[in-house]
Amino acid sequence: MSTVQRGAFIVIEGLDRSGKSTQAALLQSRLQNANVSVKLMKFPDRTTPVGKMIDAYLRSQSDVDDRTIHLLFSANRWEAVSSIESTLAAGTTIICDRYAFSGVAFSAAKGLPLAWCRSPDVSLPAPDLTLFLDISPDIAKSRGGYGEERYEKEELQRRVRNIFHQLGDELPKDGAGRWAVIDAGRDLNTVSESLWHEVAITIHDCTKQDSVGKLWQ
Ligand code: TMP
Ligand code: MG
Repeated sequence: MSTVQRGAFIVIEGLDRSGKSTQAALLQSRLQNANVSVKLMKFPDRTTPVGKMIDAYLRSQSDVDDRTIHLLFSANRWEAVSSIESTLAAGTTIICDRYAFSGVAFSAAKGLPLAWCRSPDVSLPAPDLTLFLDISPDIAKSRGGYGEERYEKEELQRRVRNIFHQLGDELPKDGAGRWAVIDAGRDLNTVSESLWHEVAITIHDCTKQDSVGKLWQ
């Protein structure tokens, strides 16, 4: 009988235009080159029926009540849980572009109570590592494409950033489930090197643990 070591669950978080998607793709190809089985995921996943409602909302093609859209973002994660669990169990590492921290940070920044925002995401699979790409909202704003979607406004992004830091401060800085702050205002290659360093530590540590934890419980 062969025992498969589980994959690592790695989340990348940050403000809009912080470079998450670019860095996630770079990380994916670096892991592939190192012969690590890897899958890229992204939330919101706009391809599902729930994701299509979220997409219409973000592009201001529909208006949805704040609490309702919050629960749809959470549902969009819950509908992926069995796929996350089976992927990790099969030994594939997941690089996930946004997760529940975005869910809480954006809705709480709009004025919903933080504890209320957190509760629907409690007990989702917990990331082994969350990489927070930290960037000042004015640098993010100066990057291309900013302002196209609903939340891409400097004042809101400022509040979002504060809540991200608050959520990260609750998590350990080392070991399982840790939160790593990465200065994303630097050039692409320097940021990519920092991420690679953090990811290598986590993939190494993960081989010692059997199953993924549960978020916020
Ligand atoms: P994206 O630009 O990464 O596709 O994300 C779309 C927007 O949705 C972005 O402004 C962050 C926001 N968001 C939430 O408000 N709640 C969530 O749960 C997630 C995953 C994203
Ligand atoms: Mg965006």
